[in-house]
Amino acid sequence: MFFVRTASDRDLDKVRALLIETWHATYDTFYGVEKVNELTERWHSLPALKARLARKNAEFLVADDGRQVGGMGYAAMSDTQPKTAVLHQLYVLPKFQRQGIGRDIFAELETCFPDAERMRVEVEPQNLHALAFYRAHGFTEVGETANCGDEQSGLPAVILEKRLLG
Ligand SMILES: CC(C)(COP(=O)(O)OP(=O)(O)OC[C@H]1O[C@@H](n2cnc3c(N)ncnc32)[C@H](O)[C@@H]1OP(=O)(O)O)[C@@H](O)C(=O)NCCC(=O)NCCS
Repeated sequence: MFFVRTASDRDLDKVRALLIETWHATYDTFYGVEKVNELTERWHSLPALKARLARKNAEFLVADDGRQVGGMGYAAMSDTQPKTAVLHQLYVLPKFQRQGIGRDIFAELETCFPDAERMRVEVEPQNLHALAFYRAHGFTEVGETANCGDEQSGLPAVILEKRLLG
């Protein structure tokens, strides 16, 4: 049984391993192994994860069953858009997907930002499973970007938003 809780420094090795495995399973066919390795080094290094843990106006959650971390989620208030929380990461290990862990992490994350009127997420257009998940959780498409994640990524994404109840 997995429980959702705030992440700590002690979780970061497991979170990094989860991200490496889940990223390869999700994105190798879209981006290629090399590109996934490169992005993983940049975005999922221990220093990058530590910086996320330390960030203010942000929530870093893990789903943990006492032995392993089965999922993680990270969201933060936007620096550029008013009253907007951005869901930067939501990842569940492949062997635990479709068992309600993503839903449980998201349910917690969407209650963490009382000042936000909306939550925003960027999704790879070919990632139909993630798009189905977000649509099932009340997100609708509002636009697209050519640079998902950071300004030089070169990765296209669909932008979806959900209105949050104040
Ligand atoms: C997308 C992801 C976070 C969803 O988490 P999960 O734990 O697998 O999903 P849940 O079991 O909580 O699903 C909740 C609901 O979302 C929808 N859903 C989830 N996965 C789906 C899929 N593959 N196809 C269609 N609908 C899906 C369903 O409505 C599901 O409810 P149901 O199982 O009762 O039908 C997870 O599958 C994942 O990590 N995928 C790979 C990485 C990824 O794409 N992350 C998102 C990046 S933006």
